[in-house]
Amino acid sequence: MSYYKINNLEQYFKHYNKSIREPRKFWGKIAEENFVWYQGWDKVLDFDMGEAQVKWFTDAKVNIVKNCIDRHLAKRGDKTAIIFEPNNPEEAAQHISYNDLYDRVSKMANVLREQGIKKGDRVCIYLPMIPELAVSVLACARIGAIHSVVFAGFSASAVASRIIDCECKMVITSDGAFRGNKSIDLKGIIDEALEKCPSVTKVLVAKRTNTAVNMKEGRDQWLQPLVDAAVPNCVAEIMDAEDPLFILYTSGSTGKPKGMLHTTAGYMVQTAYSFKNIFNYEENDIFWCTADIGWITGHSYILYGPLLNGATTVIFEGIPSYPDFGRFWEVIDKHKVTQFYTAPTAIRSLAKENDEWVDKYDLSTLKVIGSVGEPINEEAWHWYNDHVGKKKCPVVDTWWQTETGSIMISPIPFVTPTKPTYATLPLPGIQPVLMDEKRNEIEGNQVVGSLCIKFPWPSMARTIWGDHERYKETYFSAFPGKYFTGDGALRDEVGYYRITGRVDDVVIVSGHNLGTAPIEDAINEHPAVAESAIVGFPHDIKGNALYGFIILKETGEYRDRDNLTREINEHISSHIGPIAKLDKIQFVSGLPKTRSGKIMRRILRKIAEGDFSNFGDTTTLLNPEIVDEIKSNRV
Ligand code: PRX
Repeated sequence: MSYYKINNLEQYFKHYNKSIREPRKFWGKIAEENFVWYQGWDKVLDFDMGEAQVKWFTDAKVNIVKNCIDRHLAKRGDKTAIIFEPNNPEEAAQHISYNDLYDRVSKMANVLREQGIKKGDRVCIYLPMIPELAVSVLACARIGAIHSVVFAGFSASAVASRIIDCECKMVITSDGAFRGNKSIDLKGIIDEALEKCPSVTKVLVAKRTNTAVNMKEGRDQWLQPLVDAAVPNCVAEIMDAEDPLFILYTSGSTGKPKGMLHTTAGYMVQTAYSFKNIFNYEENDIFWCTADIGWITGHSYILYGPLLNGATTVIFEGIPSYPDFGRFWEVIDKHKVTQFYTAPTAIRSLAKENDEWVDKYDLSTLKVIGSVGEPINEEAWHWYNDHVGKKKCPVVDTWWQTETGSIMISPIPFVTPTKPTYATLPLPGIQPVLMDEKRNEIEGNQVVGSLCIKFPWPSMARTIWGDHERYKETYFSAFPGKYFTGDGALRDEVGYYRITGRVDDVVIVSGHNLGTAPIEDAINEHPAVAESAIVGFPHDIKGNALYGFIILKETGEYRDRDNLTREINEHISSHIGPIAKLDKIQFVSGLPKTRSGKIMRRILRKIAEGDFSNFGDTTTLLNPEIVDEIKSNRV
């Protein structure tokens, strides 16, 4: 019996129980039967959760790109690997076969080598959703360079801090990006970022918008002529199972972004396995995940998961509202998409438009529809199920994180009965637990607690780049011996999980994971600001939005509050990116603080939500009178 595919609920429980009893045997068999290795492993797993040390498939040798492309060529060379759907629907879509992808990735990999990039070097990729993005990622992985994709919506200083943190040698970018009816000057953003990044000696520039850009002599080169001159064969680097594959930055509740480091073999095994099962993937399916490759969802379920299975994956450059609110549905109809994977925020924003936008397209090819990134509310779940899935496609509400690398808790379509707003059951091999405040594991069902994972899984991040202590502290110290997710969850009467949201200072805005501390740091740099506190509050479309409580310096210089509000948001935009802008700003004369000087965010959160009942114990506050002032001036 193969463990790779789960066909019914009985098999799920069988596999699940087996995976808990004998995790090494379980993952070992999946790894052995479904991938090509240069050399097998000594041990399937070696770990010490206390030290946050985890190794999967020790000493095995493998190249993930050989598994994504080369091994499919004999059987699927002419099959479409990537469908590229441009921002502008009038521009023709591209169908890139596995043979074409092999050539393009090999050439690009040779370009990287010629430019001096070697195994272990870090390459920052700052590109729009165009084929060059996929090709660059895979080219890095082919030669063992560590890719660090930075979402092309981040500002110059956000890119710079990510480049500096992992000392990238090279940046791959484009002249510009199309986004709806706008075009964005990506090269200009990179030029500004690189003023602060001495480690970068080479910049390769893809042409997309054909806009004029500055090319810095000796540093910048157009990508295409280099690719044209390269040969289409490139010997793949032999990678150790635990060699780094990529770094992907995610916001932390404090301090600078965390460069989550993922390694090769475990990531490969679990992304492939989860893709196959959670999307019920079959050979001729057309899979579309609408995320950006700049996020983990794009890494695992636009690129690696689908390609490891020899699938056809759609890369969409545009946005759901351009040229109109029917774009997603038009693309599904046009390319006969069979699995569609998107975020609740997109679902909510489209659900508020006229249903005709979706109802007029033929979505009959769809088999499975998925959701990721934040809790999906009941109304959005039903709209998605009724109008997109037409009540015949299971909705897979998939819970996971940048840190987990792959989907962890999710229904398996046609296997697990779905339940609106529930991510339902863990994948085989995944051992979630709920913990109480006293750090005890909560047994039984119909319980609520902090969500932890108590046993390693193959695609977990191995460390934070350059800061293992922070990795240990952030994820393995709150509940010793366990990985703490930062999320709260409940387990219902049948053992289904429902994720209730973050229990730390991270707010998920439109599916983007934002730490409040870095935003506060950015605001506090504004010359008028003395101190600030940011909290999330519920928002109909975005899930959560940000509310800022700001204390101004007493100079009185900044009297025009509207101007100041605008300036603060511009400041956030340029320091972090437009996604971190505040929806509401309230100027306050003080913030509720404990005697030790800690801001009581719990109170601010309640005020931002407009819930003035039961503030809990405020007796420990240094300045309880401030609460009434803040309440009465709420915006
Ligand atoms: O709070 C959870 C929420 O998104 C967080 C992870 O964010 P990020 O690392 O950016 O990865 C997003 C894409 C995997 C989680 O800690 N989250 C993710 N999926 C769900 C979710 N919350 C509820 N339900 C989900 N399905």
